[in-house]
Amino acid sequence: MRVQVLTIFPELFAPFLATSLVGRAIEKGLLEVRVHDLRSFTEDRHRSVDDEPYGGGGGMVMTAPPWIRAVRALSGESGEGEGEERPWRVLLSPQGARLDEAKVRELGEKRDLILLCGRYEVIDERVRLTVVDEEVSIGDYVLSGGELPAMVLIEALSRQVPGVVKLADSVENDSFRAGLLDYPHYTRPPVVEELAVPEVLTSGDHAAIRRWRQREALRATLAKRPDLLNPPEALARLTPEQRRALDQVRDEARRDEK
Ligand SMILES: C[S@@+](CC[C@H](N)C(=O)[O-])C[C@H]1O[C@@H](n2cnc3c(N)ncnc32)[C@H](O)[C@@H]1O
Repeated sequence: MRVQVLTIFPELFAPFLATSLVGRAIEKGLLEVRVHDLRSFTEDRHRSVDDEPYGGGGGMVMTAPPWIRAVRALSGESGEGEGEERPWRVLLSPQGARLDEAKVRELGEKRDLILLCGRYEVIDERVRLTVVDEEVSIGDYVLSGGELPAMVLIEALSRQVPGVVKLADSVENDSFRAGLLDYPHYTRPPVVEELAVPEVLTSGDHAAIRRWRQREALRATLAKRPDLLNPPEALARLTPEQRRALDQVRDEARRDEK
């Protein structure tokens, strides 16, 4: 998968792209990330990328021409033209569709992305109208720039690329992947602050461990994110065994409330 990033702060990405799973994915060639300085696409002596807003008001607006030039140039690199696939252009914006597991998977299928990271008050609207396919937000709050949201997206995307996370299993069990939260995990030491590891996990009984994990994933979802279990299609996704486990977990929760 290839991701190209447009930003006025390319230096923010270097440690992120060199570290941990993302770093290893890039090293192994499973993921290609190229970070481009928007200022390289300016044409004035000062390499300026912002100007005062028409109509007055506070804040500087990022000018459209460098963005449009940059996105077109980067799209051209991978053959924008008739019949050829061009990269999918995503503007990081608090006004976009909220990033969730489904959106990450959908974007992962594009395989070739350009991410536009805004700064200042915002980017001139004509950029969105001409060279953006989609706006994506990482949540209902406003950051000062699109770089952190782009990193969030790149890291989430990297986990979908086969081979990046060693055990495919650990991605399959990730929260949200199957519409549920992940089950609780434990490692050594066996007792912490008088809390012992659940016995089943050291029993060596793999079927019992699988059933325990299934039940605990349902318990965590019910306690922390009951909304995930509410829509009828969420229940339809559960196996008969999971539905039985959910009933059991619900009964236990009701009993605990009394
Ligand atoms: C100060 S923000 C602009 C906010 C804009 N004035 C508004 O209220 O919609 C500057 C840049 O940060 C990025 N940004 C801020 N919050 C974001 C979020 N929640 N998700 C994605 N990008 C965000 C966007 O790229 C945006 O252009």
